[in-house]
Amino acid sequence: MRVLNASVDPAMRGWLSAEKNYLTVPDGEVMKAHGVGEVIASECAAYNVGDVVFGWLGWQRFAAISEKDALWKVDLSLAPPEAWLSIFGLNGLTAWIGFTHLARPVAGETVLVTTAAGGVGGVVGQLAAAAGLTAIGLTGGADKVARAEATLGYSKAIDYRADGLDAALAEAVPKGVDIFFDNTAGALADAVFRHLNIRARVIQCGTASVSSWLPPPTGPRRERDMLVKRLAWQGFVAFDYTREFPQALADLQGLYRAGQLTAQDEVLEGLAHAPGAIARLYRGENTGRLTIRP
Ligand SMILES: NC(=O)c1ccc[n+]([C@@H]2O[C@H](COP(=O)([O-])OP(=O)(O)OC[C@H]3O[C@@H](n4cnc5c(N)ncnc54)[C@H](OP(=O)(O)O)[C@@H]3O)[C@@H](O)[C@H]2O)c1
Repeated sequence: MRVLNASVDPAMRGWLSAEKNYLTVPDGEVMKAHGVGEVIASECAAYNVGDVVFGWLGWQRFAAISEKDALWKVDLSLAPPEAWLSIFGLNGLTAWIGFTHLARPVAGETVLVTTAAGGVGGVVGQLAAAAGLTAIGLTGGADKVARAEATLGYSKAIDYRADGLDAALAEAVPKGVDIFFDNTAGALADAVFRHLNIRARVIQCGTASVSSWLPPPTGPRRERDMLVKRLAWQGFVAFDYTREFPQALADLQGLYRAGQLTAQDEVLEGLAHAPGAIARLYRGENTGRLTIRP
């Protein structure tokens, strides 16, 4: 397999840490970046030379993989390899599972999304707009705010690094928040929780603002809000929902063909970028779904 693009994911920080019990790395399993690659030799009936495949390929230029690590074929006539790692890859699938499948969205509701201009957040904004919800985003910096509002489906995006987050939030969600799609946890989530409506759904997709859970960080307790506001707080890991992937991909591709979903990708040229790439994500410097073209 010749690797065309390989992913850089925030979750990789967890793979590298000792806190494996907190997510992602089953004991004894080695995690590899997923990627898109072209088959250059095959001993497997399901894949022929020339097929392009999405799977667990690793950060490398060539990969010898077994059939279980080849997840599905991709069609480069529809979109370039990087898009199969973003809107049609883990980002799009995660956004669809968390928002469309789990959050029970209803047209007219308000969804608030953290890391709104990121790979996952950018798809949630567009799914929400396509489904008739009002999407409000939190993201870091004026450029990301502009991009979220111009191309990612957000009616309003807020730069959480600027002063006055509480006032900006209150103004942005006058009718409160019905769905909170949270990728950061921490102080941003604390600010949003104050605006949740009765029967709001909280989708815990990521915890990007917390670098260590040992010891667990402290903050406001949420149990009373859970009770009096009748909240539903759902965490999920996208790969637990592989049965839903065909439906998710069909929906995402339908929206893409209809011009209601755009990809925003940042491709780093060359494997030499790999060591610094995860840190780049956590400095918020990525301008879209980050991949490496090895
Ligand atoms: N549950 C699942 O199955 C699943 C699957 C894939 C991804 N995820 C999660 O989804 C989230 C987004 O992933 P992605 O691949 O789309 O990455 P991304 O949003 O494109 O990149 C990460 C972003 O996190 C934000 N960030 C970093 N440090 C932060 C901090 N201290 N406080 C607030 N924001 C911070 C930055 O955006 P800003 O500049 O906007 O802050 C940065 O651009 C991650 O938390 C990831 O772990 C979950």
